[in-house]
Amino acid sequence: MPMQIYRPPVVLPQLHVRHDAEVTVRRARVADVTRLYEIINYYAARGDMLPKTLDQLYNRVRSFNVAEAGGEVVGCVALQIVWADMAEVVSLAVHPDFQGRGLGRQLVELLYDEISELGIPTLYTLTLQVGFFRSLGFREVPRLRLPHKIWQDCVNCAKQDHCDEIAMVRPVGRADMLES
Ligand SMILES: CC(C)(COP(=O)(O)OP(=O)(O)OC[C@H]1O[C@@H](n2cnc3c(N)ncnc32)[C@H](O)[C@@H]1OP(=O)(O)O)[C@@H](O)C(=O)NCCC(=O)NCCS
Repeated sequence: MPMQIYRPPVVLPQLHVRHDAEVTVRRARVADVTRLYEIINYYAARGDMLPKTLDQLYNRVRSFNVAEAGGEVVGCVALQIVWADMAEVVSLAVHPDFQGRGLGRQLVELLYDEISELGIPTLYTLTLQVGFFRSLGFREVPRLRLPHKIWQDCVNCAKQDHCDEIAMVRPVGRADMLES
């Protein structure tokens, strides 16, 4: 029997905050999970990122940072450590009303501090947002340059047979990942 791919409901959260409201970034709390679920799965339904179940989000809530405006979560990102020398930027999303004002950059830059505290030299992403990540100093690498274990999420991905994501790396201490 073919494996069932998880398809959550798609709801773009209606915000009750002005688009020019001040935004702060903080660690996620359990109370944020339902909003994370909505934002992430809204973009997942468009094919921009992997969907997440509620239990995955509760399990990983300690890996998430959120951007908050007027008491509402308007963006998120998580760090997924895959091995001693690699961590992935996952579930990066900014609500459409808050895009284009530097929040995506701010959320990813937080992860540089986290990986350097953890002693992890390389941050990578599997993404369709090549221009965005280039502007943050990531560079495309041949997918096979990345170790096999980074493909663990592919098992649950609807696009596993026709993956179009680009592997991009931003080394903190190791430039050799970028050499061809
Ligand atoms: C990708 C995403 C997180 C960017 O968030 P954002 O807050 O709009 O991005 P920022 O305002 O921080 O942009 C930072 C830089 O990236 C550039 N940029 C943003 N989106 C871009 C795009 N699609 N193509 C090229 N450059 C882009 C900006 O111009 C800016 O450059 P600058 O600093 O030189 O002016 C947001 O568009 C999003 O949530 N997309 C849907 C979900 C998604 O695709 N997530 C990524 C999964 S890997």
